[in-house]
Amino acid sequence: MQTPCDAGADGAAARTLEPAADSPNASWQQRSLASVWHPCTQMQRAAAVPPLAVARASGPWLHDHEGRRYFDTSSSWWVNLFGHADPGIGAAIKAQLDQMPHVMLAGCTHAPAVELAERLSARTGGELGHLFFASDGASAVEIALKMSMHHWSNRGQPDKREFVCLQGGYHGETLGALAVTDVPVFRHAYAPLLYGGAHLVPSPDARLALPGADAAAVAERAAAALEALLAQRHAHIAALIVEPLVQGAAGMAMHHPHYLRRARALCERYQVHLIADEIAVGFGRTGSFFACEQAGIWPDLLCLSKGITGGFLPLSVVLCRDAIYRAFLSDEVARGFLHSHSYSGNALACRAALAVLDRFEQRDVLGDNARVAAVLDAALSTLAHDPRLEHLRRCGMIWAFDVRAEHAPVRFAERLHLVGRQHELLLRPIGRTVYLMPPYVLDEALARWLGARLIDTLNETLNPALAAGLGATLPPDADRTPEPSVA
Ligand SMILES: Cc1ncc(COP(=O)(O)O)c(C=O)c1O
Repeated sequence: MQTPCDAGADGAAARTLEPAADSPNASWQQRSLASVWHPCTQMQRAAAVPPLAVARASGPWLHDHEGRRYFDTSSSWWVNLFGHADPGIGAAIKAQLDQMPHVMLAGCTHAPAVELAERLSARTGGELGHLFFASDGASAVEIALKMSMHHWSNRGQPDKREFVCLQGGYHGETLGALAVTDVPVFRHAYAPLLYGGAHLVPSPDARLALPGADAAAVAERAAAALEALLAQRHAHIAALIVEPLVQGAAGMAMHHPHYLRRARALCERYQVHLIADEIAVGFGRTGSFFACEQAGIWPDLLCLSKGITGGFLPLSVVLCRDAIYRAFLSDEVARGFLHSHSYSGNALACRAALAVLDRFEQRDVLGDNARVAAVLDAALSTLAHDPRLEHLRRCGMIWAFDVRAEHAPVRFAERLHLVGRQHELLLRPIGRTVYLMPPYVLDEALARWLGARLIDTLNETLNPALAAGLGATLPPDADRTPEPSVA
């Protein structure tokens, strides 16, 4: 998941983490900094707080080269569903490896791609009947946007080529996905390259509730704004794109399912596609297999990635309604959807995804998650009354809270990340939002451990004495630097 990274240097906390210059960890860190351009990272700061040198990973743990372990609280950018090196998913990939690792999907087909398309479609009750393969989340978003616009054009409505997206929404870093993303720090440098036909509508983020109002009221207010735009502009609008239930990069902004129901009905009324970007929230993350299920709706186009292979291999897909698919059938080649990627439908990745689906069918993953979530809720319950914090919230297997601005030390996200490492946690806050998105391998003891370690980390991070000490080491312009985020 991409939000601006902030694992930078500052003083004492950084120094305590620094391995000896000639240690195995330091050696890999130095070689990495000399050769690897890390994603979503201001490399000048990465030099001061080098990346965690991971030697191996197993279950929820990352192990460095010197015997230390770290709990992967964000499931490695939200992809790792059943822990690292899950033997079942690994075995499925190994079996496919000897059979046929990859073959192009144009002009060929194969069992893993067909079975995955059939089984994911079945998960939508057949509402979304066709599946298009891609690789990363952003490429799935590109496909959904192109499909929507091209569909309207094939149907004789070429003016429908604008998109609606939500404030704070995040859909990826490629140019099309970035055009419907509202995270200024990612957009700013590339603004001249971005398509201008995107309309921004208010987010249903429950944190925006007015005094005395609730999440449903925020959802209704946001839906009313959407309705006003669609009423006026629908003849030009191809699709609305949303992250159902949780806007991840916005700081785990959670909303009431009412918004999705209203959005679905409005899209129906105004003949606009609803694109559900479930790249982060699909595969049980919000408590249901797909987040849209909690609103009782299906989108017209559904983007999936991240957890789809359990964090083993890059894969993304776009599922669409058959009515959309049919709009591309023609004797004219150019009316077809000619988009392609070399590794579309990679057989190894499809096998991993099938093993993930098997797991959901063989075990009560959602039930187990709900049970362990209650234990972690209890372990974190004191945070609800902590005057330094606000908006403690949970949706399925996503926990988040915000540190109040007046209690957050300078470079809060960076500091929490560094202190977390000392408590065996790999934490990546988004600005002042601290979140947990653990893999689905928690048991009750581990959930209690995680809650306790997070609270220790938080208390140490917010300790005013430590804050003062670190403040003295910051560069003179640090206070003017916008608080960066880590995800
Ligand atoms: C909701 C959402 N959409 C799209 C993406 C982009 O996915 P990728 O990083 O695989 O390109 C992300 C990544 O965090 C995401 O959270």
